[in-house]
Amino acid sequence: MILTENYFPDRDLEYAYTSWMNRERNVFHALDNPGNSLQRSRASAAVGRLHEALAPLSRYRELMDAVTSGPSAGLPWGWRPLLDDECTQAGLLYLEAGKTVPLHDHPEGAAALRVISGRIDIIQGDPVPETSGGDAVSPCKFPIRWSGALSRGTGTFFTASKGNIHTFMARTDTLLLDVFFTPYEYARRSWFVAEKPSPAERPVEPRR
Ligand SMILES: [Fe+2]
Repeated sequence: MILTENYFPDRDLEYAYTSWMNRERNVFHALDNPGNSLQRSRASAAVGRLHEALAPLSRYRELMDAVTSGPSAGLPWGWRPLLDDECTQAGLLYLEAGKTVPLHDHPEGAAALRVISGRIDIIQGDPVPETSGGDAVSPCKFPIRWSGALSRGTGTFFTASKGNIHTFMARTDTLLLDVFFTPYEYARRSWFVAEKPSPAERPVEPRR
């Protein structure tokens, strides 16, 4: 079992999640193109039903309070795992207005997300050989599958080969519910972020 730092298993939550996934499995298996708006709404609706199933659970409410209190240790955003083992990954992500989750991927993983509150702008692209291995790349270096705004009650998804590379920015303080219906290995994730020198390190141009 993979246990991340701030994950504490909860039996009620596991039971509700497993029942929900058994009901929704066919919805996720039918998803193959995040560029399709109907498929995006089906994915988002399924995650919405998880939110409703978890809403009465005290652990879920505690995690929502905790994640919206601010960034998690070592991260610029808030993240609280709901479930985290070799076959199930799900969590709550909180991003303050104006903050960005930089371009990254989840190799071989597939996930759906829904905006619980707030609004984000998102860009999703397809992996290509040149975009593997953690090199810094910009969104113009991979084929964009879909980009747009997601407000409360809407969402999107990605598969291993479609829309898997993504970046998003919060337009207002935003809470997302994130579910991996095909888990991935954390260690294989790449952050495609250019290392830019800080203004203090940049060479000063001589003035004329
Ligand atoms: Fe992601």
